[in-house]
Amino acid sequence: MERKLHLGFAVAFTAIAALAVSTQSLSAQEHSEEAYGYVHESPNYPSEIWTLAAGGRIYDKWWDALDRDEPEGSNPAYPVTGQKSGSTTWRCKECHGWDYMGKDGIYSGGSHYTGIPGIRGAEGSSVEAILVTLRNESHPYTQEMITDVEMARVALFVSRGQVDMTQFLDMENRKVNAGNADRGREIFQTICAACHGFDGRMLDWGSGDEHNFVGTEAVDVPDEVMHKVLSAHPGVQMINLRAFPYSDAIDVMAYAATLPTGE
Ligand code: HEC
Ligand code: HEC
Repeated sequence: MERKLHLGFAVAFTAIAALAVSTQSLSAQEHSEEAYGYVHESPNYPSEIWTLAAGGRIYDKWWDALDRDEPEGSNPAYPVTGQKSGSTTWRCKECHGWDYMGKDGIYSGGSHYTGIPGIRGAEGSSVEAILVTLRNESHPYTQEMITDVEMARVALFVSRGQVDMTQFLDMENRKVNAGNADRGREIFQTICAACHGFDGRMLDWGSGDEHNFVGTEAVDVPDEVMHKVLSAHPGVQMINLRAFPYSDAIDVMAYAATLPTGE
């Protein structure tokens, strides 16, 4: 009896604490209620540029992009050659890479290796043809996970939204090796800094002493940062540079790689 009472108190206390957190502070992963449409839904008359970025966010992590349940367990199509398990095996990027080059790119080795080819070869293919692939046995996504309308956004991204990351990356060392950092500073200070701060340290998605700032990621995983610069981070209220020339994004990368890493 006494135990039960204690348990009841603990549950009530936790609920109150959770309520206090949700009303008082908004974690960076979240967004305001008013921003739900911008973060998870579609405009009434979507432009091609919006669609490419939206498709890119589904490619990144579709359940955060679309506000769906995170898959439980591993993707049955994930190969035994890979080392990953759990929900990440359902992410397009986990099999095909942030550089879209699969086994021929940065995932040619290391913990993300699967041996699966990239999607560069499907660039320029028709959305219809890509959609057939995206519903085949290598891609066991149900309609509850990703609807046909949403899948068409990813297909458009595959056809027309991919970029050649070898243009700014030293693929051997995974480092930025091109771009005009002065131009990148102009863009970073006037756009990215609104949320990330002038030195990129206003948002930190690390934990404890392990900091993870824009600068940290630009040095460690520039291919991932480029994907997010062009498509935004799924599930949060971030902008993207999809509407501007690719050279602007490369310039931002050159500058971001000079920011403090926190290490
Ligand atoms: C579990 C690993 C895995 C995941 C996750 C995955 N794919 Fe694939 N994908 C494959 C394999 C294996 C192939 C090659 C065989 C085939 O075409 O079915 C492939 C092929 C493709 C191709 C054809 C490439 C070409 O050159 O013709 C495209 C495009 C593609 N995937 C896009 C995607 C997208 C978009 C997603 C996320 C919605 C995704 N894939 C998720 C494993 C995966
Ligand atoms: C309107 C606010 C906003 C702007 C402007 C913005 N971001 Fe973000 N960005 C966010 C939020 C929110 C997150 C999620 C942070 C988290 O997960 O804690 C994020 C995440 C990121 C991430 C990392 C995501 C991860 O977890 O790997 C990178 C990299 C990034 N932003 C780069 C940029 C760059 C570069 C620019 C400018 C081109 C930019 N952002 C502009 C809000 C913004």
